[in-house]
Amino acid sequence: MELPGALSPPWWLLLLPLLALLLWATRRSSWEPRECPADLTGKTVIVTGANSGIGKCVAMDLARRNARTILACRSRERGQAAVEEIRAATGNPAVVLRLLDTGSLASVRAFASAVLREESRLDVLVNNAGITGLPFAITSEGLEQTFAINYLGPFLLTNLLLDLLKASAPARVVNVSSFRHSVGTVDTGFLTGQRRPGRYDAAYSSTKLMNVLFTAELARRLQGTGVTANALSPGVVSTGIMRHFSWTARALFGLLRPFMKSAEQGAASTIFCAVSEEAAGISGKYFDSSCRLALPSAAARDAALARKLWEASERLTGLTERE
Ligand SMILES: NC(=O)c1ccc[n+]([C@@H]2O[C@H](COP(=O)([O-])OP(=O)(O)OC[C@H]3O[C@@H](n4cnc5c(N)ncnc54)[C@H](OP(=O)(O)O)[C@@H]3O)[C@@H](O)[C@H]2O)c1
Repeated sequence: MELPGALSPPWWLLLLPLLALLLWATRRSSWEPRECPADLTGKTVIVTGANSGIGKCVAMDLARRNARTILACRSRERGQAAVEEIRAATGNPAVVLRLLDTGSLASVRAFASAVLREESRLDVLVNNAGITGLPFAITSEGLEQTFAINYLGPFLLTNLLLDLLKASAPARVVNVSSFRHSVGTVDTGFLTGQRRPGRYDAAYSSTKLMNVLFTAELARRLQGTGVTANALSPGVVSTGIMRHFSWTARALFGLLRPFMKSAEQGAASTIFCAVSEEAAGISGKYFDSSCRLALPSAAARDAALARKLWEASERLTGLTERE
């Protein structure tokens, strides 16, 4: 549940009824997962951050389509609870937990190694895990934490799993971004905290812009492999994503909660990119929360910026040394 950070408290009060109306009007998507017959028997999918919110609903949907569904979560307790819930609701016994902290490159490497060792295929990778409202902090690996969790960890994860995705083609990478990418800015110094994007929630918008740039460059590099990569906005969704915000911000958003998309409704655009016939073969694009192709911001379409970000990310994750 998030709204542009530029709105300061007095404006909130005036805008609340208008926002509520707008949110209510955009709750429904033009594409309905339940009407999509895609069956994933024999396929394997990974959903990061699958123990709550949008990720759990996506994992639930994919498990219902009979996929071997790997929930990539950082907490064993929360992850296992989601596994039990999804198994019980879908009757799919092939729902499993693997531990992953996307904010730690070491954890990403350990997770990817286990997947490459133990899984014979990977058909869909959903990079959903994300966080907002964290204070500026540098991790033990020298990365700024919000950038590590939302962008650099998923960048490394995807790259480490690319060979398995290619061997399983046609396969799909789905990156959960946000409409907030349009107010983001990109500077590779943000990744290590050398430079700061501004107020603390500006970091979130920047990571979501990086998700779209990463998707475009990845798709360019994947041309001809049968693996597609797309980014999407889930819309404004009532989940726990605001939990690190101040109590006043949470209280104000609490008033809007009844008008927002439910987590299930918010999962539609991710599921659309992951399984729909309509999205098959489409790559390097951005879908809005109604599952329609949309033009991302001008910065998100800057191919030179995407290349520069990719190269800096390769250096920071040690990918260039590997090859
Ligand atoms: N809700 C919205 O309005 C909205 C709008 C636009 C985009 N999005 C995007 O949608 C995605 C899902 O968010 P949500 O709204 O469903 O929020 P959520 O309920 O808070 O879910 C976020 C998930 O990401 C996981 N996660 C956070 N940090 C992680 C880490 N370091 N390693 C592994 N997993 C981690 C969380 O696990 P824990 O339980 O362990 O924290 C949780 O399962 C995010 O990428 C978010 O940016 C949401």
